[in-house]
Amino acid sequence: MLRRLHPDQPDSFAFTPANQAWAEAQIAKFPDGRQASAIIPLLWRAQEQEGWLTRPAIEYVAGMLGLAYIRALEVATFYFMFQLAPVGSVANVQVCGTTPCMLCGAEDLVAVCKERIAKRPHTLSADGKFSWEEVECLGACSNAPMAQIGKDYYEDLTAEKLGWILDELAAGRVPPPGPQNGRFASEPAEGLTSLETEGAERQPHNASVDLALRLGDTVKRIDGTETAKG
Ligand code: FES
Repeated sequence: MLRRLHPDQPDSFAFTPANQAWAEAQIAKFPDGRQASAIIPLLWRAQEQEGWLTRPAIEYVAGMLGLAYIRALEVATFYFMFQLAPVGSVANVQVCGTTPCMLCGAEDLVAVCKERIAKRPHTLSADGKFSWEEVECLGACSNAPMAQIGKDYYEDLTAEKLGWILDELAAGRVPPPGPQNGRFASEPAEGLTSLETEGAERQPHNASVDLALRLGDTVKRIDGTETAKG
Protein backbone atom coordinates (compact mmCIF):
# COMPACT_ATOMS: atom_id res chain seq x y z
CA MET A 1 0.00 0.00 0.00
CA LEU A 2 1.29 3.45 -0.88
CA ARG A 3 1.72 5.63 2.12
CA ARG A 4 1.41 9.25 1.17
CA LEU A 5 0.82 12.41 3.15
CA HIS A 6 -2.80 13.50 3.29
CA PRO A 7 -3.68 16.25 0.79
CA ASP A 8 -5.26 18.45 3.49
CA GLN A 9 -2.72 19.57 6.03
CA PRO A 10 -2.89 22.07 8.90
CA ASP A 11 -0.75 25.19 8.70
CA SER A 12 1.44 24.47 11.67
CA PHE A 13 2.33 22.16 14.52
CA ALA A 14 3.80 22.70 17.95
CA PHE A 15 4.14 20.39 20.91
CA THR A 16 2.25 21.44 24.01
CA PRO A 17 4.68 22.83 26.61
CA ALA A 18 4.54 19.55 28.55
CA ASN A 19 5.09 17.45 25.44
CA GLN A 20 7.91 19.78 24.40
CA ALA A 21 9.63 19.21 27.73
CA TRP A 22 9.05 15.46 27.39
CA ALA A 23 10.50 15.47 23.86
CA GLU A 24 13.58 17.40 24.95
CA ALA A 25 14.10 14.89 27.76
CA GLN A 26 13.95 12.02 25.24
CA ILE A 27 16.56 13.69 23.05
CA ALA A 28 18.83 14.17 26.06
CA LYS A 29 18.92 10.39 26.59
CA PHE A 30 21.08 9.93 23.48
CA PRO A 31 24.80 10.65 23.23
CA ASP A 32 26.04 13.67 21.34
CA GLY A 33 25.60 13.26 17.62
CA ARG A 34 22.99 10.50 18.04
CA GLN A 35 19.95 12.69 18.71
CA ALA A 36 18.32 11.48 15.50
CA SER A 37 17.67 8.18 17.31
CA ALA A 38 14.86 9.94 19.19
CA ILE A 39 12.84 10.28 16.03
CA ILE A 40 10.33 7.48 16.64
CA PRO A 41 9.33 8.51 20.18
CA LEU A 42 9.00 12.13 19.05
CA LEU A 43 6.88 11.31 16.01
CA TRP A 44 4.80 9.01 18.19
CA ARG A 45 4.20 11.72 20.78
CA ALA A 46 3.21 14.14 18.01
CA GLN A 47 0.67 11.55 16.89
CA GLU A 48 -0.52 10.97 20.46
CA GLN A 49 -1.11 14.71 20.75
CA GLU A 50 -2.89 15.28 17.44
CA GLY A 51 -4.31 11.86 16.64
CA TRP A 52 -2.43 11.62 13.35
CA LEU A 53 0.89 12.67 11.92
CA THR A 54 0.68 15.87 9.93
CA ARG A 55 3.31 17.24 7.58
CA PRO A 56 3.99 20.22 9.89
CA ALA A 57 4.50 17.76 12.76
CA ILE A 58 7.02 15.74 10.77
CA GLU A 59 8.82 18.96 9.83
CA TYR A 60 8.76 20.13 13.43
CA VAL A 61 10.28 16.89 14.70
CA ALA A 62 12.91 16.94 11.95
CA GLY A 63 13.78 20.49 13.02
CA MET A 64 14.11 19.48 16.67
CA LEU A 65 16.50 16.71 15.73
CA GLY A 66 18.51 18.70 13.18
CA LEU A 67 17.45 16.29 10.44
CA ALA A 68 16.62 16.94 6.81
CA TYR A 69 12.84 16.77 6.41
CA ILE A 70 13.15 13.84 4.00
CA ARG A 71 14.82 11.71 6.70
CA ALA A 72 11.87 12.20 9.05
CA LEU A 73 9.41 11.68 6.20
CA GLU A 74 11.08 8.34 5.39
CA VAL A 75 10.47 7.13 8.93
CA ALA A 76 6.90 8.43 9.11
CA THR A 77 5.91 6.81 5.82
CA PHE A 78 7.68 3.51 6.49
CA TYR A 79 5.97 2.47 9.71
CA PHE A 80 2.29 1.63 9.59
CA MET A 81 1.85 2.69 13.22
CA PHE A 82 2.00 6.27 12.02
CA GLN A 83 -1.35 7.55 10.80
CA LEU A 84 -0.89 9.79 7.78
CA ALA A 85 -4.55 10.77 7.46
CA PRO A 86 -6.92 12.30 10.00
CA VAL A 87 -8.42 9.77 12.41
CA GLY A 88 -11.69 9.89 14.30
CA SER A 89 -11.81 12.46 17.07
CA VAL A 90 -12.86 9.69 19.47
CA ALA A 91 -11.06 6.62 18.11
CA ASN A 92 -9.43 4.85 15.21
CA VAL A 93 -10.50 1.19 15.20
CA GLN A 94 -7.82 -1.22 14.01
CA VAL A 95 -9.41 -4.56 13.14
CA CYS A 96 -7.03 -7.49 12.85
CA GLY A 97 -7.61 -9.23 9.53
CA THR A 98 -4.96 -11.94 9.67
CA THR A 99 -5.84 -15.65 9.39
CA PRO A 100 -6.82 -16.63 12.99
CA CYS A 101 -8.97 -13.51 13.40
CA MET A 102 -10.39 -13.94 9.92
CA LEU A 103 -11.35 -17.56 10.70
CA CYS A 104 -13.05 -16.42 13.90
CA GLY A 105 -15.15 -13.63 12.42
CA ALA A 106 -13.01 -10.60 11.57
CA GLU A 107 -15.09 -10.08 8.45
CA ASP A 108 -18.11 -9.45 10.65
CA LEU A 109 -16.14 -6.79 12.51
CA VAL A 110 -15.06 -5.15 9.26
CA ALA A 111 -18.71 -5.15 8.18
CA VAL A 112 -19.62 -3.27 11.38
CA CYS A 113 -16.90 -0.72 10.65
CA LYS A 114 -18.10 -0.29 7.08
CA GLU A 115 -21.67 0.16 8.18
CA ARG A 116 -21.12 2.23 11.31
CA ILE A 117 -18.02 4.26 10.42
CA ALA A 118 -17.27 4.51 6.71
CA LYS A 119 -17.32 2.24 3.68
CA ARG A 120 -13.60 2.70 3.13
CA PRO A 121 -10.80 2.46 5.69
CA HIS A 122 -8.86 5.60 6.63
CA THR A 123 -12.04 7.62 6.19
CA LEU A 124 -13.81 9.61 8.88
CA SER A 125 -17.33 8.75 9.94
CA ALA A 126 -19.98 11.34 9.08
CA ASP A 127 -19.78 12.81 12.59
CA GLY A 128 -15.98 12.76 12.52
CA LYS A 129 -15.81 10.65 15.66
CA PHE A 130 -14.44 7.40 14.23
CA SER A 131 -12.21 5.95 11.56
CA TRP A 132 -11.11 2.37 10.97
CA GLU A 133 -8.53 0.25 9.21
CA GLU A 134 -7.64 -3.40 8.80
CA VAL A 135 -4.27 -4.33 10.26
CA GLU A 136 -2.08 -7.42 10.35
CA CYS A 137 -1.79 -9.79 13.31
CA LEU A 138 -1.61 -7.89 16.59
CA GLY A 139 -0.36 -10.91 18.52
CA ALA A 140 -3.58 -11.69 20.38
CA CYS A 141 -4.61 -14.61 18.14
CA SER A 142 -5.79 -16.77 21.05
CA ASN A 143 -8.43 -14.11 21.68
CA ALA A 144 -9.52 -13.82 18.05
CA PRO A 145 -11.22 -11.92 16.61
CA MET A 146 -9.92 -8.72 18.08
CA ALA A 147 -9.37 -5.05 17.42
CA GLN A 148 -7.06 -2.43 18.81
CA ILE A 149 -8.96 0.71 19.73
CA GLY A 150 -6.75 3.57 20.76
CA LYS A 151 -4.00 1.95 22.79
CA ASP A 152 -5.81 -1.14 24.01
CA TYR A 153 -6.95 -4.52 22.77
CA TYR A 154 -10.61 -5.51 22.66
CA GLU A 155 -10.66 -9.28 22.31
CA ASP A 156 -13.08 -12.16 21.73
CA LEU A 157 -15.27 -9.75 19.81
CA THR A 158 -18.55 -10.26 18.02
CA ALA A 159 -20.26 -7.84 15.67
CA GLU A 160 -22.73 -6.99 18.43
CA LYS A 161 -20.01 -6.37 20.97
CA LEU A 162 -18.07 -4.11 18.61
CA GLY A 163 -21.24 -2.15 17.85
CA TRP A 164 -21.84 -1.74 21.60
CA ILE A 165 -18.25 -0.59 22.14
CA LEU A 166 -18.65 2.05 19.41
CA ASP A 167 -21.88 3.23 21.06
CA GLU A 168 -20.16 3.49 24.41
CA LEU A 169 -17.19 5.38 23.01
CA ALA A 170 -19.46 7.76 21.12
CA ALA A 171 -21.23 8.49 24.41
CA GLY A 172 -17.93 9.35 26.07
CA ARG A 173 -17.52 6.10 27.97
CA VAL A 174 -14.56 3.76 27.54
CA PRO A 175 -15.50 0.10 28.02
CA PRO A 176 -12.86 -2.03 29.78
CA PRO A 177 -10.58 -3.58 27.18
CA GLY A 178 -9.57 -7.26 27.11
CA PRO A 179 -11.77 -10.30 26.43
CA GLN A 180 -15.38 -9.33 25.73
CA ASN A 181 -16.89 -12.80 26.22
CA GLY A 182 -16.26 -13.23 29.92
CA ARG A 183 -12.87 -14.87 29.59
CA PHE A 184 -10.24 -13.70 32.06
CA ALA A 185 -7.38 -14.02 29.58
CA SER A 186 -6.85 -16.75 26.98
CA GLU A 187 -7.93 -19.81 28.97
CA PRO A 188 -10.22 -22.35 27.25
CA ALA A 189 -13.58 -20.77 26.45
CA GLU A 190 -15.34 -23.67 28.25
CA GLY A 191 -13.44 -22.95 31.46
CA LEU A 192 -10.25 -24.11 33.12
CA THR A 193 -9.36 -27.80 32.78
CA SER A 194 -6.14 -28.06 34.75
CA LEU A 195 -4.08 -26.35 37.43
CA GLU A 196 -6.27 -23.80 39.22
CA THR A 197 -9.66 -25.20 38.35
CA GLU A 198 -11.26 -24.18 41.60
CA GLY A 199 -10.76 -22.07 44.64
CA ALA A 200 -8.19 -19.80 43.06
CA GLU A 201 -8.54 -16.17 43.98
CA ARG A 202 -8.75 -14.13 40.86
CA GLN A 203 -8.44 -10.42 40.28
CA PRO A 204 -11.35 -8.85 38.43
CA HIS A 205 -9.16 -8.25 35.36
CA ASN A 206 -6.01 -9.72 33.88
CA ALA A 207 -2.80 -7.72 34.28
CA SER A 208 -2.89 -5.92 30.94
CA VAL A 209 -6.54 -4.88 31.35
CA ASP A 210 -5.78 -3.78 34.88
CA LEU A 211 -2.88 -1.64 33.64
CA ALA A 212 -5.02 -0.17 30.86
CA LEU A 213 -7.71 0.77 33.38
CA ARG A 214 -5.18 2.34 35.72
CA LEU A 215 -3.55 4.39 32.94
CA GLY A 216 -6.93 5.35 31.52
CA ASP A 217 -5.50 6.79 28.31
CA THR A 218 -7.03 4.28 25.88
CA VAL A 219 -8.51 6.82 23.49
CA LYS A 220 -7.27 10.03 25.09
CA ARG A 221 -5.07 12.52 23.27
CA ILE A 222 -1.84 12.94 25.20
CA ASP A 223 -0.97 16.55 25.91
CA GLY A 224 1.88 15.52 28.17
CA THR A 225 0.55 16.87 31.44
CA GLU A 226 -0.05 13.40 32.90
CA THR A 227 3.05 11.85 31.42
CA ALA A 228 5.62 14.58 31.96
CA LYS A 229 7.25 12.15 34.37
CA GLY A 230 7.68 9.58 31.57
S1 FES B 1 -4.43 -13.02 13.81
FE1 FES B 1 -5.49 -11.46 14.85
S2 FES B 1 -4.25 -11.11 16.58
FE2 FES B 1 -3.15 -12.61 15.46
